[in-house]
Amino acid sequence: MENLIIFNARVVTPVGFSARRGGEMGKLRIIDNATVEVTDGTITYVGENRGENRDGYYRRYWHYNARGKCLLPGFVDSHTHFVFGGERAEEFSWRLKGESYMSIMQRGGGIVSTVKATRASNFVRLRSKAEGFLKQMSAMGVTTVEGKSGYGLDKETELLQLRVMRSLHNDEHKRVDIVSTFLGAHAVPPEYGGRTDEYVDYLIREVMPCVVQNDLAEFCDVFCEQGVFSIGQSRRLLLAAKEMGLALKLHADEIVPLGGAGLAAELSAVSADHLLHASDADIQAMADKGVVATLLPLTAFALKEPYARGREMIDAGCAVALATDLNPGSCFSGSIPLTFALACIYMKMSIEEAITALTLNGAAALNRAGSIGSIEVGKKGDMVVLNTDNYHFLPYYIGMNCVNTTIKEGVLYPT
Ligand code: NIG
Ligand code: FE
Repeated sequence: MENLIIFNARVVTPVGFSARRGGEMGKLRIIDNATVEVTDGTITYVGENRGENRDGYYRRYWHYNARGKCLLPGFVDSHTHFVFGGERAEEFSWRLKGESYMSIMQRGGGIVSTVKATRASNFVRLRSKAEGFLKQMSAMGVTTVEGKSGYGLDKETELLQLRVMRSLHNDEHKRVDIVSTFLGAHAVPPEYGGRTDEYVDYLIREVMPCVVQNDLAEFCDVFCEQGVFSIGQSRRLLLAAKEMGLALKLHADEIVPLGGAGLAAELSAVSADHLLHASDADIQAMADKGVVATLLPLTAFALKEPYARGREMIDAGCAVALATDLNPGSCFSGSIPLTFALACIYMKMSIEEAITALTLNGAAALNRAGSIGSIEVGKKGDMVVLNTDNYHFLPYYIGMNCVNTTIKEGVLYPT
């Protein structure tokens, strides 16, 4: 945590301490020749440059001349699976030859193949691999990331993944804050083959209480999908999670229109994610209930699936967030630049809406819109300086990084 003054910046930020919905998503505050002051890691001034010369003021703060470049809130990647063992490059090549994601999963590959590799790994190896991803995220401007378990599918390995995330979050040199999600219901492990209900019982009785007692996760998520966890099984799991104090997320309507988005609304989940096949009625229900619609265009791209209907969701009054879904299977990419481009080109989101989706609404998808996601007094000093004065470069410079420096709680990390 540092004291920092950034001056001569072009501040580009959404405004507010809660999710921006519908038409509000496209409204950004832009301040030219701006100064942002960060004291002990927290933003204490945002406004026009001021010729401060108070005694000791200059000594107690680092100074950074942004030279007119854009200064945005740090990006919040609110949906990833960045702690895992092994890789699945071979599966990728099968998919290129026409095999589908679900058929690979049904014949014992997919998530379960990463489960085997993760069970065979250990704390040190998982941690150092995950740390590598965090460095790459930070270089693209990410200052908060959500990470899920779900490659253990047994008590020991689920807790191991969550402990890796906690240790990375507690690292005093960390560049990225980590929010942890328990995703024990990511797939049915081989030892429970054909006994999905019993596996859900096991998660509720044996694993979830341990996760909660050790304060290892804030959210519970489920892969609510045909052939994985049904609506009924997902509801049972999530109600138990809510009872134990976890906030809720769902992988919903990713492959087929099962109604996961409607379940998210019914249970007042914080977010429902993917939503490629969410129905009109369920989109409206999410808007009415204030469930954040987290869209993951890199996954649709990688799986050659139709993109989620971002435009329609915003027009229906939803709060839309964007995230990468970085994982070794369906989407081996954590590219923030490509996420921007796909959202604007294929989901018909405006550039301003995409910025809100990757900052304030990403924060809202993690219950953190009060403390991060915009450049406002009282929020964390998490920001990015672009190497341009034109924020349109974020989607326009396709798949290319235009972040010059990532700022984490007032500490500068040039990229
Ligand atoms: O969000 N769909 C389920 N979970 C991940 C994929 C995980 C994997 O393939 O390893 C997703 O797409
Ligand atoms: Fe996912």
